[in-house]
Parts: sequence; structure tokens; C-alpha cells
Amino acid sequence: MRLDYLTIFPDYLAPLRLSLPGKAIESGLLEMHVHDVRAWTHDKHRTVDDTPYGGGAGMVMKPEPFGEAFDELAIDGATVIVTTPSGEPFTQSLARELSTRDRLVFLLGRYEGIDQRVLDHAATRAEVREISLGDYVLNGGEVAAMAITEAVVRLLPGFMGNAESLVEESHEDGLLEYPVYTKPASWRGLEVPKVLLSGDHKRIAEWRHEQAVERTSVRRPDLLHASQAATEWEIVPAV
Ligand code: ADE
Repeated sequence: MRLDYLTIFPDYLAPLRLSLPGKAIESGLLEMHVHDVRAWTHDKHRTVDDTPYGGGAGMVMKPEPFGEAFDELAIDGATVIVTTPSGEPFTQSLARELSTRDRLVFLLGRYEGIDQRVLDHAATRAEVREISLGDYVLNGGEVAAMAITEAVVRLLPGFMGNAESLVEESHEDGLLEYPVYTKPASWRGLEVPKVLLSGDHKRIAEWRHEQAVERTSVRRPDLLHASQAATEWEIVPAV
């Protein structure tokens, strides 16, 4: 998979190379290119923004630098991701969908956003997805892009050492993950649930499923109602 990032803060994305994606780059699974949008400006001040037509607060990112970047980077056929609080919510299933793409190009807005024509033009050459990390506002798209990258890259075939841990984790089956324990069996007066020491794999699997359903019903009832588990298990309302 090839990843391109168009940002006015390239240094902001440096940690990507340190974390798990860094290993994927070394192994050749990933190619990562971070670009400074100002490289495609031509004025003395390297201007990337201007006032909004129609008035209003804040500044809007200008279309021309993005247009030149699209041409030079040949974005045709890629999936262009625009991180914005007004996008579709980022979920595990969207991460899985994006992990099937060959190339993701992230457009990272600052200020009040990017001129709409940038997205409209990109849509004539590529798949465009506007994605929100959640219902809150960040200063810009960089942090959102890092989160999306990490969630997507770890799903690439060959990325995770232990494929089973992917299947069992939160959200993969529509439920939050059950609580986990390790040694020692007793710690500061707190005991590991007996069933986990029993060696009875069937009972352990049942217990974990019950715990996952209960945890989901308390913390994220919206997920439970959407999942298959809601039809298979009696849901006890949280008290
Ligand atoms: N940029 C600013 N806020 C954001 C959010 N919540 N999700 C994605 N990109 C953003």
C-alpha cells in the first residue's frame, strides 16, 4: 500500500514512522510520502489560504496548490481521504474497507476547511472519502490521519504477527472486547475470575462472550442493538 499525505505541517506526521507503520515501511509492506502543500505555491509568502467567498470567520485552503499536487503525484485511481468533522464516521468496518486499497492520499485541512472544488475535482480522478474521527473538532486533520493510518495499516495482510488477536479484539465482532487478565492469579487482594483458570475452553469462551455483551450493553448500547448478538442474547438493561 502507498500512502501520501498533503499537509502544511509535515513534521506533525513524523511519529507515524516510529510506531507500527514504521516497521511496515522497513519490511516493504508500506510506502509513505509526506508532502508540504506549500511546495506547490509560487508567491513570496507561500500562501495556502484565503478568505471565504460569502464572508464568515476563518480562512479556507486555496485550490491551486492541491491541484498542482494532484497532477505531480498522479492521484488518478487512488482513494483520496479528506479528514473533516463533517465526514462519515470512521469505524472498524471502514478501516477494513480502506485496507483493501492500493493507494490512499490524505488531504489534511487546517483553518475552516478546503475549497470544495478541490474535492469535486479529485472526485473526477479518484475515489473521495470525507471521514470524521468523531463528533468533536480538532485543530486540523493530521491527528485524524494518523489514527486512520494506524487502524488501516494494522489490517494489511502480513502486518500483524498474530492474526488471531485481530479477530478477537473490540469491534471486530460488533462487540467491545471482554476484560483480560495475566499472572499473578491474585494481586492486591484482587482475584482472576476462576473460570479463566479452569482450562475448560468452552466455558471460557462463553464467559468471555457474556462479558463482551454486558460491557457493550453498559458502555455502547447502540452497538449492541446493531449487532447479531442482540438477537442471540437476552439483553439485561444496565442498572
Ligand atoms: N479535523 C478536525 N476535526 C476533525 C475530526 N473530528 N475528524 C476528522 N478530521 C478533523
